[in-house]
Amino acid sequence: MNKIVVNGGKKLYGEVEIGGSKNAALPILFAGILTGEACVFSHLPRVSDVLLTLEILRSLGARIRFAATGDVLVDYSTVRPLLPSVAQTGAIRGSVYLLGAMLGRFGRARLGGAGGCDFGSRPIDQHLMGFEALGASEYTENGALCLLAANGLRGADITLKMPSVGATANVLMAATAAKGRTVIRNAAAEPHVVALCEFLKAAGAHIEGQGSSTLTVCGGTPLHGCATTIIPDMIEAGTYLCAAMAAGGRVTVKNVVPGHLEAALDVLRAMGATLTVGKNHVTLKAPSRYRGVEVTTGPYPAFPTDLHPQLAALFALGHRATGTGRVVEAVWQERFRYAEELGKLGARVRIQGASATFSPSVLHAATLRSPDLRGGVALVIAALATEGRTEITHAATVGRGYEHLETKFRALGADIRVFG
Ligand code: EPZ
Repeated sequence: MNKIVVNGGKKLYGEVEIGGSKNAALPILFAGILTGEACVFSHLPRVSDVLLTLEILRSLGARIRFAATGDVLVDYSTVRPLLPSVAQTGAIRGSVYLLGAMLGRFGRARLGGAGGCDFGSRPIDQHLMGFEALGASEYTENGALCLLAANGLRGADITLKMPSVGATANVLMAATAAKGRTVIRNAAAEPHVVALCEFLKAAGAHIEGQGSSTLTVCGGTPLHGCATTIIPDMIEAGTYLCAAMAAGGRVTVKNVVPGHLEAALDVLRAMGATLTVGKNHVTLKAPSRYRGVEVTTGPYPAFPTDLHPQLAALFALGHRATGTGRVVEAVWQERFRYAEELGKLGARVRIQGASATFSPSVLHAATLRSPDLRGGVALVIAALATEGRTEITHAATVGRGYEHLETKFRALGADIRVFG
């Protein structure tokens, strides 16, 4: 996906089937290493971050088979503790999960680099603090970060400085292999962290407290292969609901867990959307105009940072929004690169510290550059609601997390084309 071209101004009507969660799939695919056996994954999203993860696993020796049913079979028995290519691991954030998974399986791990969207600094000090507490020592070798548990891993009481998704998942993986009891306090409670716990439990791990801020792991028993279904992507679902709100119309997102979307639904409702919530679907009927509101992002169950740019796009649209809208970003303080691009469409935005305040103004089509995954899709949302032809370059960033973007939006009546 290189370029996205949108002829905006059409309302959206219809249904869209939501795919598996990228941010659940990545840690689960890496956690499979711990089993040393074959695992079967259903509903794995074919987004580029997931495909690259499979490539990294293959390069480490895993055998991968795409079944006709759509399931993906990964045989981890042949994985070896190699140093994966920096070009590959450096392209996605999820590669950091190799540390916890390899450390758990082999007692050592090496990583040349981990990438991901650029929100300024993305430290992993809390991951490393957790690994050290479990008995691993850290050193660098030819620029690669290395971990070694020379005397094996043992359970520990670990308190994270913040409820980091990555640190929780990584330390949890290593803890399943650590002898004895590990407690992770101030743990992340995101649905994708719960999904990882469920996967590890299906593989034989003993974990309690998932979904709360304290996880307890009784580790040291070998895990085994298992089958799992990846949970629906709450951020993809929220993105299509934001798009419906922006463009107008009535859209149903299917295959969702509405409970995961609660914070986003509360905000959309407060802005004036009419929502019908079913067991696995949500229908949004957009109002003729919606209100600007103030939203602060935060760890689950707060409003997700991964929906911040999409919501901000709504606040920018002068022909749709009434009043000022404001997003306060409490997770990634530099997640505002989309704002400059919205400015090219005529948006009036003021960034002050970690907040963006939008005074609605009438937007016009332009050529834009996708800054990152969610920032890029926020530009798509703005373009769908804006009359004229908007071109978004560097769109590979969007392909990292959205599968069948063109097909799904076209089925809703949008005039959108994806190139490359
Ligand atoms: C995950 O990133 C997601 N990525 C991100 O989604 C998401 O924005 C983020 O969680 C928050 O929900 C994946 O799942 C692959 P964190 P992660 O550790 O794990 C600080 C998307 O758009 N921190 O929860 O890297 C950190 O700087 C992507 O799909 C430390 O200081 O996020 C940040 O301010 C983008 N030290 C906060 O914690 C650490 O050791 C939360 O980060 C770890 C984190």
